[in-house]
Amino acid sequence: MRRLNFYLYIAELDDAADIKAPERLLLAWLTEQGRAPAIKKTKGKKPSFSIDFRRIRQAQEDPQLNDGCPEWLDNMGRAQLGPRWATERAALAQAPLRYVRVNLLKGSREQLQQQLKAEQIPSELVPNQPDALIIRGDVPLFRSKCFQDGWFEQQDLGSQHIARLLAPLPGMLTVDACAGTGGKTLHIAALMQNKGRIIAMDIEQRKLDQLRKRAKRTGINNLETRLIESSTQIKRLRASADRVLLDVPCTGLGVLRRNPEAKWNPMFTDLDQLCATQQDILQRYSKMAKVGGEVVYATCSILPQENEEQVAHFLKNCSGAFELVEQVTLYPSMFNSDGFYMAKLKRTA
Ligand SMILES: C[S@@+](CC[C@H](N)C(=O)[O-])C[C@H]1O[C@@H](n2cnc3c(N)ncnc32)[C@H](O)[C@@H]1O
Repeated sequence: MRRLNFYLYIAELDDAADIKAPERLLLAWLTEQGRAPAIKKTKGKKPSFSIDFRRIRQAQEDPQLNDGCPEWLDNMGRAQLGPRWATERAALAQAPLRYVRVNLLKGSREQLQQQLKAEQIPSELVPNQPDALIIRGDVPLFRSKCFQDGWFEQQDLGSQHIARLLAPLPGMLTVDACAGTGGKTLHIAALMQNKGRIIAMDIEQRKLDQLRKRAKRTGINNLETRLIESSTQIKRLRASADRVLLDVPCTGLGVLRRNPEAKWNPMFTDLDQLCATQQDILQRYSKMAKVGGEVVYATCSILPQENEEQVAHFLKNCSGAFELVEQVTLYPSMFNSDGFYMAKLKRTA
């Protein structure tokens, strides 16, 4: 799926839904990898299809095909990232690494490493990333006892930066306003050492239900979930939170390594409409922070339109109520991780 157009070209197909696609794509893949079995020539019988080696070379020499990039994405990436796009396009074509985050409520990452070792799961410490371990190979992590006991979550390296940037402290009131199934909520809870209050909100109840299950397994007891049904829930929390995380809905273009199907079936239809939703969330939900409190706006996208341009627009229109403390884009090419953007804003008035 990561390089579907590359293999379609070699297989001389226009459409993956073609009835001939499964057989031909498999042959194209095996041949390009140098793993195609030698086919015995049967006298008088021609094979129904054979790979033309010139097409493999042509596909490899075309950067867009070689990186498995559809045309719409290539145009969007080039328009928004300019010369940087070619590097990120190539990085997004790689298979993702497997990172886990230790649950600090259970113990340290060195202790987790020992527990994993006892279950024959080798892991490596990730330098400069206090909660992360890397797991090589395809071990069944979720069947391990230490996963079932809540010792870790699978979470990409880039994503682990977000709660660290939010830096919630024990005893604080933290609102995770687009919590989804809680990837970052669980990290926030660990950093708060189960002290203080976390309010996790979303517009989808089924995600919050899933979050509650995960929170139970990981031993969190200071979490409240709230379904957002109208703006009242947001207004009720006006100027009350020490920390607010806005991990807004986005194109997901930073996490294509993990979700390569989205290249062929994008999860968004209208980028401008999506950006309008992001700006609306940023403007309305940031008011939940109290004066002196901090808001982190984050996306799993590397498009400036969803990221620094949103924050710049917000700052221009907030009448001086917020200042930018720090913003960072983690490009997939930088750390061999998914792509993310995060901006920390301080409420000053
Ligand atoms: C990027 S995902 C969040 C991922 C989550 N924070 C995590 O770490 O697993 C964005 C979430 O925003 C939610 N959402 C969409 N529109 C929203 C809105 N107006 N208010 C709050 N949440 C919204 C979606 O349901 C989705 O779960």
